[in-house]
Amino acid sequence: EYKGIPLKANLSVCHASFSDADRPVYCCPAWKDADQTLLDFEFPDPSSPVRIRRPAHLVDEEFVAKYERAVGIMKQIPPDHPHNFWRQANMHCLYCTGAYDQMNSSALFKIHRSWLFFPWHRAFIYFHERILGKIMGDDTFALPYWSWDTPEGMWFPDIYRKGALNETERDAIHLREAAVDDFDYVDHDLASDAQIADNLAFMYHQMISGAKKPELFMGCKLQSGVEGWCDGPGTIEAAPHNTLHSWVGNRYNPERENMGAFYSAARDEVFFAHHSNIDRMWTVWKKLHGDKPEFVDQEWLESEFTFYDENVRLRRVKVRDVLNIDKLRYRYEDIDMPWLAARP
Ligand code: C2O
Repeated sequence: EYKGIPLKANLSVCHASFSDADRPVYCCPAWKDADQTLLDFEFPDPSSPVRIRRPAHLVDEEFVAKYERAVGIMKQIPPDHPHNFWRQANMHCLYCTGAYDQMNSSALFKIHRSWLFFPWHRAFIYFHERILGKIMGDDTFALPYWSWDTPEGMWFPDIYRKGALNETERDAIHLREAAVDDFDYVDHDLASDAQIADNLAFMYHQMISGAKKPELFMGCKLQSGVEGWCDGPGTIEAAPHNTLHSWVGNRYNPERENMGAFYSAARDEVFFAHHSNIDRMWTVWKKLHGDKPEFVDQEWLESEFTFYDENVRLRRVKVRDVLNIDKLRYRYEDIDMPWLAARP
């Protein structure tokens, strides 16, 4: 039954979990979160610079070189360390495959397909960005976003094809294609203009006509203690979020790894550009809805996650902490959004 208690992971037991295709996976960290001192989240200093996330196809070479170097360093950090690249990826695996149970319950703690989707991923990429900035000694570093909602962004972003940002486990066929096939797991092989027009109409549906209420956009209200109580992704989570994950992943791998499976998705740095855009869509939707709170339920606002910050301290982050990006000191560079007028 509905208990109305905020969700929280029981960090004391990390266990094997299952991939989307029910294959066993193991992503528990060597530095056990339960052994760390858990500190409350603190907002960045309000006088610190605002990080400006820009479209991936517009960033300059100097930026890319720095970004590549920092990801390269992340890949060299010892594997146990929370800032190690694959340890970062495993944070996603932990919370996406259910490696922790919920507190005081045997139900698994999972953050997809519900109202935890947007807040968890916002916090995850927030810390990833700050860790990269710390590595490069640049407190203005901001993740690029993959603007697949706009015509110019509807190709696989080139900057992720090189050096430390590259990844071999991707779909070589899709990466050559005329424009991303955003929405339904089917290759339509349309000419790029037709594909772009379809994608824009689809975005209109996912952001506007199909997402009039918070539950439709944010996902269903997951309640604690009951496994399978709610399994309803919001419009954008279902697509293009899920569909583009599969579109990027290697079709010859069993679960289209890396991007195509929860447990491996964040092993591909383009994950962070994809999720910056997902996060940006949240800010856009919120603005279209008068900047009102999505939900006022305490069990949502008080639900919590843990992440290592840029100073390797484990932080407790509540949903309420991540609802205002001004306080998180980043924003998205504005670009034209022709889908706003793409009513079919
Ligand atoms: Cu947690 Cu894009 O998935």
